[in-house]
Amino acid sequence: MNAVRFEQVTQRFGTLTALSDLDLELPAGQLSALLGPNGAGKTTAIELMLGLSAPVSGSVQVLGGDPRDAATRSHVGAMLQDFTAPLGLNVRELLSLYAALYPAPMPVARALELSGLGAQAAQRASGLSGGQKRRLSFALAVVGRPRLLLLDEPTVAMDIQSRAAFWQGIADLRSEGCTVLLTTHLLEEVDRAADRVVVLSRGRLVADGTPYSVRQQVGLSRVRFTSSLSDAQLRALPGAESLELGSRQQATFRTRQPEVLVRAALGAAPDLAHLEVTQASLEDAFLSLTGDAAVSA
Ligand SMILES: Nc1ncnc2c1ncn2[C@@H]1O[C@H](COP(=O)(O)OP(=O)(O)O)[C@@H](O)[C@H]1O
Ligand SMILES: [Mg+2]
Repeated sequence: MNAVRFEQVTQRFGTLTALSDLDLELPAGQLSALLGPNGAGKTTAIELMLGLSAPVSGSVQVLGGDPRDAATRSHVGAMLQDFTAPLGLNVRELLSLYAALYPAPMPVARALELSGLGAQAAQRASGLSGGQKRRLSFALAVVGRPRLLLLDEPTVAMDIQSRAAFWQGIADLRSEGCTVLLTTHLLEEVDRAADRVVVLSRGRLVADGTPYSVRQQVGLSRVRFTSSLSDAQLRALPGAESLELGSRQQATFRTRQPEVLVRAALGAAPDLAHLEVTQASLEDAFLSLTGDAAVSA
């Protein structure tokens, strides 16, 4: 079963096309990452899944139903970029309040545990740190025991501890069968944790698959070695798409023709050493797919 299904979805704001003929299926039970540079349409897609807006054309199905129906919404949890909750209440009170809105919520203690907020249960929400407020937003998103969890940049403003607690919580929810879709610019975490990567660029789908298959599809390799070659000599090597110079004469290339590059480099530099050829990272693949200088969301 698909937890989310977009068919030929187009969304516009005035003359701006935020999503263009988007076809998307998110199978139930998976952790998918929705990636794309700023303005790619990620938040727009999530708002459609939440029924906060309707598409100009095409259809959006969530858990087999209309995302605007109350019955559907009661099974969807969300953590949006702007957090707005009555901050005068304490953490436990807020969670109890939210839990009461859902037909089959989890115990508040469980939401505290999943979000790593146990120690702050009696603290007023207004007194939480930035990272703790994001954890609270996560706890509020999960307390209704959603079948589908939509997280828009959940780890922004989280410190290392909050992020670790967050990923642990996600792992626990997944083991209980929850479908998760998140946006993030932390591509190393996506590479490690996601079953599925969907990359948007200017409202269009540019890649869709496992992190491995997306890296494979882009076909970039990373070649790294040390040598006494000058900058100019390194830049003159064939087949390179980019070059980064590190300390201790280390050069790192991105290339689609690793054999060509390595053969030329060995010919030019008898002292070449520490040679490594690996598949480029998901971040490299992302940059290549979106043609964007910055990984942002
Ligand atoms: N309510 C809105 N009114 C006008 N333009 C919007 C609105 N929401 C989003 N947009 C525009 O739609 C495009 C996609 O935005 P968004 O979905 O927020 O991108 P992302 O979340 O990937 O950064 C952007 O160009 C953005 O400026
Ligand atoms: Mg956004």
